[in-house]
Amino acid sequence: MNAPIPEHDPAQVDVDPYSLPLEAIDVANPHLFAADRHWAWFQRLRDEAPVHYCADSAFGPYWSVTRYDDIMQVDTSHEIYSSEPAITIRDAEDDFPLPMFIAMDRPRHDEQRGTVSPAVGVKALAGFEPIIRERTIDVLESLPVDETFNWVERVSIELTTRMLATLFDFPFEERRKLTHWSDVAVATPGMGLIDSEEERRAHMLDCLVYFQGLWEERAAAAEKNDFISMLAHGESTRDMPAEEYLGNLLLLIVGGNDTTRSTMSASVLCLHDNPGEFARLTANPSLIPSMVSETIRWQTPLAHMRRRAKVDTELGGQTIRAGDKVVMWYVSG
Ligand code: HEM
Repeated sequence: MNAPIPEHDPAQVDVDPYSLPLEAIDVANPHLFAADRHWAWFQRLRDEAPVHYCADSAFGPYWSVTRYDDIMQVDTSHEIYSSEPAITIRDAEDDFPLPMFIAMDRPRHDEQRGTVSPAVGVKALAGFEPIIRERTIDVLESLPVDETFNWVERVSIELTTRMLATLFDFPFEERRKLTHWSDVAVATPGMGLIDSEEERRAHMLDCLVYFQGLWEERAAAAEKNDFISMLAHGESTRDMPAEEYLGNLLLLIVGGNDTTRSTMSASVLCLHDNPGEFARLTANPSLIPSMVSETIRWQTPLAHMRRRAKVDTELGGQTIRAGDKVVMWYVSG
């Protein structure tokens, strides 16, 4: 059976969250985020119900955790909160399962993560530094002067996609396929990019077929330092079924795509809106690492992650029952 595509009420964007009883608050409507109207809803939850139960939503009942300390507690208590079966508020499709290691618990999680993590370890990243600098200069120098252009398209997406292609050793000229599959994988049907779940699946199957060709090529050659080669040779991944290969591919593509490009775009917007901070940064480039962390905190490329309580537990004075869906709202905390 297909998991139904949740219906969300667009009219919620015009509702004042303070006009509702607390128990009627549902912050999981994508329209609130698209219209940038979610802030007051989270403010109310943080102030009045930082661990809040929504009994009825398009995604089913769920707890919202909206303050930093409580989010940290959920995120680090692996014995109490599970990442299975999914890490987004929306449930997985019963008939199109996409197992991926982010949505697994120990020990499988650690085995599969350990297979690919050397590709983005400190040593590997240091090795990439010259090519990252070279590409950044190339992209920035190719920008038009005295003319309006789309920074997201020409800089953020281009740089992110070039790096992703390198991490996968993906055919460079076809790298925009990665952007496309990433966007489709996380799109909400009916909100722009795709109209139906069936359409998403068709794109995802194209992605799988393409990557199966790369898998066969890498499996037949000696192991090297790219994601596909590592998965094809890794002890805990080389025999994985096709749907798990696709799940892990999407994890790596989406994980690397949306986050990085949003951060690149937000950093420019943020510095443009705060010229004093831009002046501080250019006067003292050693501030760049903290500027990156602050940009990620400020624009939050991942609005939430979801867990499932494994046991009955207490959080913020509330009793959460085993099996309950618990959403950590990074966008709030
Ligand atoms: C601004 C950049 C990024 C941000 C803000 C970010 C954020 C996050 C967050 C919040 C998680 C979930 C942690 C949790 O479940 O508690 C995560 C997991 C993950 N991210 Fe990223 N990420 C970024 C860049 C990347 C890149 C460039 C890649 C790969 C190319 C990547 C791949 C992954 C993977 C594979 C996981 C799962 C890790 C695991 O299950 O242990 N991310 N990321």
